[in-house]
Amino acid sequence: MPGWLKDAIFYEIYPQSFKDTNGDGIGDFNGIIEKLDYVKELGCNALWINPCYDSPFKDAGYDVRDYKKVAERYGSNEDLYNLFKIAHEKGIHVLLDLVPGHTSEEHEWFLESKKAERNEFSDRYIWTNGWIEGIAGHPYIGGEADRNGCYMLNFFKCQPALNYGFLKRTEEWQKAPDDPACIATREAMKDVMRFWLDKGCDGFRVDMADSLVKDDDENKSATGAIWKNIREMLDNEYPEAAIISEWSNPKQALKYGFHADFYLDHRGNGYNTLLRDYETDGGDKSFLKKDGHGDIMRFLNDYLPKYDATRKDGYISFITCNHDTPRPRRTLSIDELKIAYAMFLTLPGVPFIYYGDEIGMRYFELPTKEGGYTRTGTRTPMQWSEGKNKGFSTAPSDKLYLPVDPSDDAPTVESQEKDPSSLLNTVKALTKLRHEYKDLQADSEFEIIYAEADEFPFVYKRGDLIVAINPSDKKTSATLPKNTTKVFEIGETEIKDASLHMQPQSFVVLK
Ligand code: NOJ
Repeated sequence: MPGWLKDAIFYEIYPQSFKDTNGDGIGDFNGIIEKLDYVKELGCNALWINPCYDSPFKDAGYDVRDYKKVAERYGSNEDLYNLFKIAHEKGIHVLLDLVPGHTSEEHEWFLESKKAERNEFSDRYIWTNGWIEGIAGHPYIGGEADRNGCYMLNFFKCQPALNYGFLKRTEEWQKAPDDPACIATREAMKDVMRFWLDKGCDGFRVDMADSLVKDDDENKSATGAIWKNIREMLDNEYPEAAIISEWSNPKQALKYGFHADFYLDHRGNGYNTLLRDYETDGGDKSFLKKDGHGDIMRFLNDYLPKYDATRKDGYISFITCNHDTPRPRRTLSIDELKIAYAMFLTLPGVPFIYYGDEIGMRYFELPTKEGGYTRTGTRTPMQWSEGKNKGFSTAPSDKLYLPVDPSDDAPTVESQEKDPSSLLNTVKALTKLRHEYKDLQADSEFEIIYAEADEFPFVYKRGDLIVAINPSDKKTSATLPKNTTKVFEIGETEIKDASLHMQPQSFVVLK
């Protein structure tokens, strides 16, 4: 386990939208470099950068055309190596995005694989034996290649699935996961990882990590075996490198070797009930909405078994949002966001802040861009200042990658830096607190003290600290052990004798 994860607070950067330094309307590596001090002041000491490789950008870069070359629009490979170097000088680790399940249909491997003549890459992707033979239960394409066969897709039409084999095999063309062709795919992915790790990258967020082997069993054991093998390589060659999975099943992901697994926003899961429980009938039931219709037990009933089963193996990652999820500001007010982030930054595991969430950037209904569809509205340019294009770019506004927030009260870093009670300054205070107290970090003890359905506050212990959260618009109180003192608060709270009195929308850490 890389030791640095214990105190890591990640910042996710969608590179298109972070900071443009050459005036072409799209973000670049030099922009990220320019803002590393901002990231540091925010209290984040690690980055995850979304795919920045050469790509036709039909899925915002998740359609990789060349794993070892960056997209020109962000700069050169040297610029990225430089980013690693400067980030390290500032104590910031950098994760790239690894997309192991598919490539772009324009990747050289696929162009070779499509050919009628057999070659080294013929089995790098999943092909049937005939142009009229489809793939039951999986998306596939026919009629696009000289090769006499149909090929499987992993996600969009532009993303053919790489071949890691099938666990359950019913067709002659389906290879076993230990077939030399499937092992070659795994080794090719290790080669990509080594390439970037040798250049100074600190690990990877891994896209769709759970679905490499097709028709796997319930436990994903064949896909898991691949990750165990990759983890072994990392432990031997790059023991400080971290891998964090898009799996959202920590019992599986952490057992198979990931250091952390994202708790993603899936309808009805515990994380979803905290912030985004608004698509069910009867309005918004999110726990962190102040109207108090939420129920903390819906979160805990899902989270606690996962936490208990995995705390010895690795971490669960809470996110404020990511590039696939509506920003929390879509439904939460600034005051509600303060309490939400306070909770995420005091729970166990490795937390992630999505760029712009720290100032409460909005979610927009926008026409799709680069395969974003409803995700596009979460990917708009970072709002740095009150100046042109909110300081994101000097390009004409109609040339921007996506429009900046046009509202009069669009939140910006510049205005929030000046306001001691802003969301930005609250986040900074919270990250500072987490770095200061080991008890609040990834693997310190976590114990529930008070959590009841439809009741407030929610109280838990982290090591010797007690955290109490009242997201509701009602006053509430709780009994405390004797002699506790306040370490940190949001809103108003008061300790009287052995009771904690909490005003509406308040949060407190006690010792
Ligand atoms: C998950 C990524 O987060 C998403 O943005 C992408 O479209 C799909 N995987 C396909 O790579």
